[in-house]
Amino acid sequence: MTVATRNRLYINDVALRDGFQIEPNFVETEEKVKLINRLSETGLAKIEATSFTSPKAIPNLRDAEQVMRAIKRVPGVVYTVLVPNVKGCERALSCNVDEINLVMSASQAHNRANLRMSCEQSLAQFAEIVKFVGPSSVFINGSISTSFGCPFDGWIPEARVLELVQQFLDTGIKGVTLCDTTGMANPEQVRRLCDAVLQRWPEVPFTLHFHNTRGMGLANVLAALGTGMRNFDASLGGLGGCPFAPGATGNVCTEDMVHMLEQMGYDTGVNLDALIEIAKDLAGIVGHDVPGQVIKAGKADRKYPKPAWATDAAGQVAGANKV
Ligand code: COA
Ligand code: ZN
Repeated sequence: MTVATRNRLYINDVALRDGFQIEPNFVETEEKVKLINRLSETGLAKIEATSFTSPKAIPNLRDAEQVMRAIKRVPGVVYTVLVPNVKGCERALSCNVDEINLVMSASQAHNRANLRMSCEQSLAQFAEIVKFVGPSSVFINGSISTSFGCPFDGWIPEARVLELVQQFLDTGIKGVTLCDTTGMANPEQVRRLCDAVLQRWPEVPFTLHFHNTRGMGLANVLAALGTGMRNFDASLGGLGGCPFAPGATGNVCTEDMVHMLEQMGYDTGVNLDALIEIAKDLAGIVGHDVPGQVIKAGKADRKYPKPAWATDAAGQVAGANKV
């Protein structure tokens, strides 16, 4: 692997799906389409544009078909959508998505709360979906919610996640996302699980999906990076959360994560300035302040004018060390 490819990271923005699904208000279809079209021009590798779920379960994303049919597809960007069952898959395929992202939980309790079925029933749906998709070019990713912990069942044993990854792969799912649905994971736990899956399945494209519910989001990204993980989900403005997981709050914020990674010398492919401009408009779209910090603080190299009392008539700092 060359230095260039070793430092290349792939970011999937999930604000349109994970973010908008839990918003108190419906975001108009036209606003969603505009937002996706703007995000498509920033260099993001992937955009999770919506979910094909029951409109009763997730009313905010009831316009999934309209959104997917109206957006402008930018070559090189993968447009993925969340799918919980066979019906959702049929709807997604009718909209020419690039990828479907199947979802189930590692824990029975969250699977039942979120999807109203057992883990075994979810796996059976996935097997049907893989058959249904057949040899088409649509990539099938599988997300494991509550991979690090469940708000009902508590900690999830690593062996349970490994078992599910194996079942996903046996079913024909090609990529796997490990999701920390309610921000329970800590960096040491992340390092252990990432090491375990990469050791066992070095060829599988894994993605990490962290929520910042307890302030550990970016620390967890770094822990995963250290093991060799290269694909990360994040959400513009730090929106996000599962409506069926008590206490859920936003994902790791995309522009904050990209800012950190670029400062560290990684190549995310993302135009950070463009992303920040879009993030600044988000509060207006959702009608409230958003958790992202870089849109408030500015980038780390932001410089303020020196205060008058600290400078002489020529605007120089007395005794300045020329820095
Ligand atoms: N898209 C649209 N409608 C769907 C659907 C889908 N993917 N799946 C089911 N439905 C409809 C059925 O047609 C049925 O409609 P009807 O009442 O008009 O007859 C109704 O929803 C109930 O169907 P059923 O199969 O009994 O679903 P359910 O009520 O057991 O709910 C899910 C199961 C998976 C559809 C639902 O819980 C869901 O969409 N959950 C998504 C949760 C989510 O996205 N969480 C956040 C992301 S982790
Ligand atoms: Zn999430």
